[in-house]
Amino acid sequence: MAVREVEMETAHQAIEEFAHKALGDVAGALTASLVVIGDKLGLYKALTKGAATPAELASRTGTTERYVREWLNAQAAAGYVTYEGGRYSLPPAHAACLTDEESPACVLGAFQGMTAAMRANGKVAEGFKSGCGVGWHEHDPELFVGVERFFRPGYNAHLVSEWIPALDGVREKLERGARVADVGCGLGASTIILAKAFPRSTFVGFDYHAASIEKARERARDAGVADRAKFEVAAAKEFPGEKYDLVCFFDCLHDMGDPVGAARHVRQTLAPDGTWLLVEPMAGDRVEDNLNPVGRLFYSVSTLVCTPASLAQEVGLALGAQAGEGRLRDVLEQAGFTRIRRATQTPFNLVLEARP
Ligand SMILES: C[S@@+](CC[C@H](N)C(=O)[O-])C[C@H]1O[C@@H](n2cnc3c(N)ncnc32)[C@H](O)[C@@H]1O
Repeated sequence: MAVREVEMETAHQAIEEFAHKALGDVAGALTASLVVIGDKLGLYKALTKGAATPAELASRTGTTERYVREWLNAQAAAGYVTYEGGRYSLPPAHAACLTDEESPACVLGAFQGMTAAMRANGKVAEGFKSGCGVGWHEHDPELFVGVERFFRPGYNAHLVSEWIPALDGVREKLERGARVADVGCGLGASTIILAKAFPRSTFVGFDYHAASIEKARERARDAGVADRAKFEVAAAKEFPGEKYDLVCFFDCLHDMGDPVGAARHVRQTLAPDGTWLLVEPMAGDRVEDNLNPVGRLFYSVSTLVCTPASLAQEVGLALGAQAGEGRLRDVLEQAGFTRIRRATQTPFNLVLEARP
């Protein structure tokens, strides 16, 4: 082939490859919507009772065979269920991710929360033009429930057994009886887990979003820890109280408009030997470090939710969900924290300890 023909052939292949990838992403987004349906209607849970034809699955779940058949075929094509001889099965590993709420591998909350985040698409596109933000509270309420459901299994797996012990002297204080503030607590998953593990300590969860605080109170009552886990509506720069032994921020500093102001307030409310536990999404300091599947997930949610949330508040620093440790340290140092270290980490979480 002549050089020009080879160049054209190569260009054509590159277009075809990218078009395949892009259409794969469209299929992935549609799969996300179908996962939410399967979760809501109990289709996955019903498949854990054994392989089923569409008619059997419809009868197990009180749904309509024709819809279920189409859903099952889409799920089989996506590799979520397997198909053989007219019956569909959910492999055990997939069941752990799609039916077991307590498994750290459970992805149901991510699907619920992220499909809800996509509904803000129009408002966020407007923000690109106007520069205005979209507040956390302006999202579809399924986002709040989905995020809590996604994070809770990870907190159950790591918070008490790994993150608290990684902090200098904090577990001992919590065992003896300490005062703890959990700021940006959302529906209170982390606060409730800590209150269950450390019955001699007292906890206050703060969040500026009143509807989340209402739900957190309900959940604390249901978990039997309402006596030691209280919840109050308050912004991170204004939450009340002083001499806290431990202040926690789980996945929320980057959502705030003024993280430096929030960090200064934490410093003022901590006991002289108190500790700030700051958990933020795992990220490297440079864009190039984050061009991977974790970065893809976090930069995307950051575009739709975290960056607009920060831009909707005063200052609007907009750290983004992939700020990285260097940028976070910079915020903490501006607020006067001098002893900052990476206490531990998971593939998804950066766990920092900061002390005055
Ligand atoms: C991604 S959610 C994390 C919720 C919770 N910490 C968790 O891990 O499940 C971020 C939370 O930060 C809260 N938030 C955002 N800006 C805030 C501010 N300035 N003061 C207090 N809370 C804020 C939001 O309302 C939301 O509940």
